[in-house]
Amino acid sequence: MDRTSKATRSALLTLAGTLLAMLASPAVSQERPTTLKQAFESAFLVGAALNPEQFYERNPAEVALITSQFSAITPENNLKWERVHPQPDSFDFSAADRYVEFGEKHGMFIVGHTLVWHSQVPAWVFQDGAGQPLSREALLERMRQHIHTVVGRYRGRIKGWDVVNEALNEDGTLRQSRWLQIIGEDYLVKAFEFAREADPNAELYYNDYSLENAPKRAGAVALIRKLQQAGAKVTAIGTQSHVRMEWPTVAQADSTIQAFADLGIKVAVTELDVDVLPRREGRGGELTAAARDSLDPYRAGLPDRMQQALARRYADLFGVYLKHQDVITRVTFWGVTDQQSWLNGFPTRGRTNHPLLFDRAGRPKPALAAVLATTRTRGNRP
Ligand code: GLA
Repeated sequence: MDRTSKATRSALLTLAGTLLAMLASPAVSQERPTTLKQAFESAFLVGAALNPEQFYERNPAEVALITSQFSAITPENNLKWERVHPQPDSFDFSAADRYVEFGEKHGMFIVGHTLVWHSQVPAWVFQDGAGQPLSREALLERMRQHIHTVVGRYRGRIKGWDVVNEALNEDGTLRQSRWLQIIGEDYLVKAFEFAREADPNAELYYNDYSLENAPKRAGAVALIRKLQQAGAKVTAIGTQSHVRMEWPTVAQADSTIQAFADLGIKVAVTELDVDVLPRREGRGGELTAAARDSLDPYRAGLPDRMQQALARRYADLFGVYLKHQDVITRVTFWGVTDQQSWLNGFPTRGRTNHPLLFDRAGRPKPALAAVLATTRTRGNRP
């Protein structure tokens, strides 16, 4: 091959390469965005809660799904007190370290969940060596040490923390947790103070569920105001958003976000999923054979009628989120696929639920297309 044809060939190769790159590049190929993180890029982050199977990268196809769709991650369980600090003098960061490494490797916004909660916290936390309740001072010191150790370890790497989780009752009063009983109301202010000391640059969140109900929402608004007055840094309120097909209404979701925006803080949707199964009175327990058919109707898969209803439900919710994109920083799903969802076991064990955008095999459901379509109908921030 002479010089000229070599040059021509190399020019053609370069051109082919450029064309391929253009085809693959979102800007050119994307009249219709194909992934969640691309579609909402200019509005808010889209996240998912991950389990160790996922962040240890056991299944390459699932990793590809996660990294292509999501720009933020939350650990489903691996930073909770019982996991990371199981005994008074021993911390176990093995899984949490892998979680953070996964997020960094894939360039994701890494969330920490959760520092102070009444659940998934060992009983010893509230007791002295003799099994007696700790004093206020001793429990504050224990809380300080936990927060400094955990937040401090990932300082600058975990970008936002659920500092206090679920401190409120349904009627908006403070939950009678051991934290409240032993320390008193200022346990919340202290938790935020300790978190800020441990990483002054991290975003700090108050996180709770059912905030769309008026009494609890009012309680949350009052709580955030108190924290603000006490000088606590509260970057955002996390509204978990474990929702159902009929609850909350779009109007409730909308006015709740507005109420929090009015406090001058950001809002993150932190644990989104849509329970499609019927509820029965009471909680827990195995199903009897007779109850099974009525309470677990979609064992063979979600029928088209329900797929469409779920798609409309998700589209309505994302319509609200886009409307409030100036205050919403992130929308995180509680899981990636239906297979993984905690709603297969809650509030009734052993059912087949379908609450997320990807089915049990990781295939997109009609709800994914409906969510992506909201950026075209409601508009994405330029
Ligand atoms: C709450 C917690 C989460 C998780 C879910 C259920 O919403 O914040 O960590 O435990 O319940 O899985």
